[in-house]
Amino acid sequence: MSLPTPTRDRARLLDQKDGLRRFRSEFAVPSTSQIHSNTLGALGDTVGASAVSQPSTYLCGNSLGLQPTRTSTRIQQHLSTWAAQGVQGHFKPMADSPLPTWLDADAKAAEMIAPIVGGEASEVAVMQTLTANLHFLLSAFYRPEASGRHKIILESKAFPSDHFAVETQIRHHGLSTKSSMITVEMPSSDNTAIATRDVVSAISQHAADTAVLLLPGIQYYTGEFLDIPAITDFAHAHGIFVIWDLAHAVGNVPLRLHDWNVDAAVWCSYKYLNSGPGGIGGLFVHARHSQVTRSFVDEQSDTGFTNRLAGWWGNDKATRFVMATKFHPVPGAAGFQLSNPSILDITSLCASLEVFQEAGGVDVLRTKSVSLTGFLEELLNALPSDVRGKFRIITPSDPAHRGAQLSLLLGDGLLDTVMDALLARSVIADDRKPNVIRVAPAPLYNSYEDCVNFVEALEEALRGASTS
Ligand SMILES: Cc1ncc(COP(=O)(O)O)c(C=O)c1O
Repeated sequence: MSLPTPTRDRARLLDQKDGLRRFRSEFAVPSTSQIHSNTLGALGDTVGASAVSQPSTYLCGNSLGLQPTRTSTRIQQHLSTWAAQGVQGHFKPMADSPLPTWLDADAKAAEMIAPIVGGEASEVAVMQTLTANLHFLLSAFYRPEASGRHKIILESKAFPSDHFAVETQIRHHGLSTKSSMITVEMPSSDNTAIATRDVVSAISQHAADTAVLLLPGIQYYTGEFLDIPAITDFAHAHGIFVIWDLAHAVGNVPLRLHDWNVDAAVWCSYKYLNSGPGGIGGLFVHARHSQVTRSFVDEQSDTGFTNRLAGWWGNDKATRFVMATKFHPVPGAAGFQLSNPSILDITSLCASLEVFQEAGGVDVLRTKSVSLTGFLEELLNALPSDVRGKFRIITPSDPAHRGAQLSLLLGDGLLDTVMDALLARSVIADDRKPNVIRVAPAPLYNSYEDCVNFVEALEEALRGASTS
């Protein structure tokens, strides 16, 4: 099957006019031969956008972002520093390397990521992984014994890791999930989006004894972008602390966490931030929750700051190496760090954040993203009715309520056949059982023509699926 030629011509024209076009060559787009191969092949064929065969159609940045070509350069610079300097790499800058010393790497990464989440650099820490960070935040801000508020509200279809974190935190405090875990139900099986009004009604119902509200900025299954400022305001009016899981929002949509008065947030960096599988995560803690009001010499060791599960890297830098056993956190989100961070991980993340900076930041990317995802949606909606009838787009159609991703809900039993057929045509998207395909054109490296490739492949796959 193929879309009418004018559609592909239109896509090519849009690509030619795309001001961000050059950034595609900043990424290793797997070639068609690579994605069907079981060997790594020659290095030249593995790294770089100029792979020897045709590029595949990779629309999976919502799951794992592509590798920036400069990542290997930066990692090599890090390895060379380590090889040549050993422990001195902690504090000795290298004149011919752009990398910070290892002692400064976390602060540099926080500076680079702050504009992406809309926080002050001091409100952001690049550390650990999303689920670990969620536990650390809950350990600090979920205090049922002290506050008398014991409930945590989350969505009923939360990403399992969030669900497990909440469940086990509640049990950790000796409470029962039956009475302390409140899940916001979806309106109906036909309408899977979380409406702000459903969240609002759950808050109103449980306002008196709810401690924490945990929601996704963008819901992983439906791709819905929630109204973060409105929900945060409403929860605050009821004395509830709000944590946002930004796994699918960070690097995807503009965020203004400080201005939106968000209490805290967590994210991973391997999706739209392209740091590599399992890459280092991050957290945001609003300045008002991370103040330190006592001095190091104060005898009181547990007042003047929010208690937390602590480690030496969260200790004030000035006294970190004094090796005193009195915890004195650095003010800000950095005070929530525990261990010295993996420099390999931070180097990989920052390589990608350089590309974000050069592209002009998330606001610039968002303009292209809205257009690209809108184009994809338009092509899907224009498919012949016999094919179009086999799936439903469950992502909100209003661009203000979604990011790059569209989620297609297929008819029962079609998913595996369709995914196999897409791969056979060198198209990579991802699936969530039982019936959803998630497809996400990432504005840094995807093109309008990628959208055409996907829709053609999907049409063929769906026709094949019906006859199989
Ligand atoms: C929405 C959401 N929350 C949490 C996680 C878990 O992240 P991690 O494995 O980095 O803790 C993921 C992972 O994909 C996710 O998509």
